[in-house]
Amino acid sequence: MKIISVVGARPNFMKIAPFIEAIERHNRLHSKPIEHLLVHTGQHYDIRMADAFFKALDLPEPDINLQIGSGTHAEQVGNTMIAFEKVLLEHRPDWVVVPGDVNATLACSLAAKKLHIKVCHIEAGLRSNDETMPEEINRIVTDRISDLLLTPDRFANENLKQEGALGEKVVFVGNIMIDSLQKHLEEARSRNIEHVLQQNAITYKEGFTEAYAVITMHRPSNVDDPNILSSLVTYITTQLSRKLPVVWSIHPRTQKNLKAIGLWEKLQEVENVLLLQPLDYHEMVKVLLDSKIVLTDSGGLQEECTVLNKPCVILRPNTERPVTLMDNGGAGILTGSDIVKVERAIGFFLTHPLHAQRPELWDGKTAERCLTAILNFR
Ligand code: UD1
Repeated sequence: MKIISVVGARPNFMKIAPFIEAIERHNRLHSKPIEHLLVHTGQHYDIRMADAFFKALDLPEPDINLQIGSGTHAEQVGNTMIAFEKVLLEHRPDWVVVPGDVNATLACSLAAKKLHIKVCHIEAGLRSNDETMPEEINRIVTDRISDLLLTPDRFANENLKQEGALGEKVVFVGNIMIDSLQKHLEEARSRNIEHVLQQNAITYKEGFTEAYAVITMHRPSNVDDPNILSSLVTYITTQLSRKLPVVWSIHPRTQKNLKAIGLWEKLQEVENVLLLQPLDYHEMVKVLLDSKIVLTDSGGLQEECTVLNKPCVILRPNTERPVTLMDNGGAGILTGSDIVKVERAIGFFLTHPLHAQRPELWDGKTAERCLTAILNFR
């Protein structure tokens, strides 16, 4: 059997690393090895957004890098399809495995399906029901054309059932990202927080190593609209930072937009706010572990907060990951960019202990189940 797995952007790397390890384990135990190629579309290309993750997660160098880079959605998807089709024609895999919901997920599943190559989607069935999110379009289309739909939770199974996906295509495997979290947790814990902050600070300041709030933000809905971005910045600098020290790991998209609206320089001067470059995997987990509260619009962080029992203010009006909400036993409260709701959620978390439960099958063994599902596919 020949498999090509695809990565494109930062959140894909921790989802594919355990899958590749499962293939390697399989090959050590079986006489008929699985042939595997890793394709990186190159959507994320900065050292800090991509290479640092290959290193931290022990990912092998990609066999092929399509070097697509930045662009509009149509440019990214179109260019990836054209380049990936050539790879498929040359290597003729039996399966293409795509994780997550980024543009690479959509582009590569489409290119493969049109060549009648089987597609396996890891993290299938998630729905925010918000079609203004580029990721939601990627999820819907990828799931509609995939041959094998591997789901992280039972909500996802329910979504696929409602959309009419055939039962035999859908396998509940759990959350593959938690395989990575489990594997790297001790290494992350052993990092020195002061060192992590010092190494990554844009302008280093002392006094951020304890009881801090950590922020990450990159969704177009939060950072592309100048009014929303500046109201969030005003809240962070004038209210939140008076309650808690704030450690903010800045995504390139956010940095670019802060510069465009003239807030980048000012933000660096705010006393109780420490801006960080994008962190590598162990650094990010360490910063999470030592934080008091998390404010984020990242889907992955929502999930990690649930497993690590960290209060998570979700800076989104909806989520495709309802299993991470407090109402469903997780660690998150949805606030969108509504400052009143953010303030209320923070007030709640600072006065109530959290008891998040680990969702079913988020047990560190999801990658094995993914590979078994592919091998058992008939
Ligand atoms: C992408 C994914 C999103 C994911 C996020 C994680 C899609 C539609 N979006 O969003 O689901 O949560 O990655 O980070 O696939 N840039 C750099 N260096 C890089 C990559 C990007 O500077 O290595 C800049 C580019 O100039 C670009 C901006 O960041 O303008 C945004 O990058 P892009 O790949 O378009 O999407 P993300 O916002 O990162």
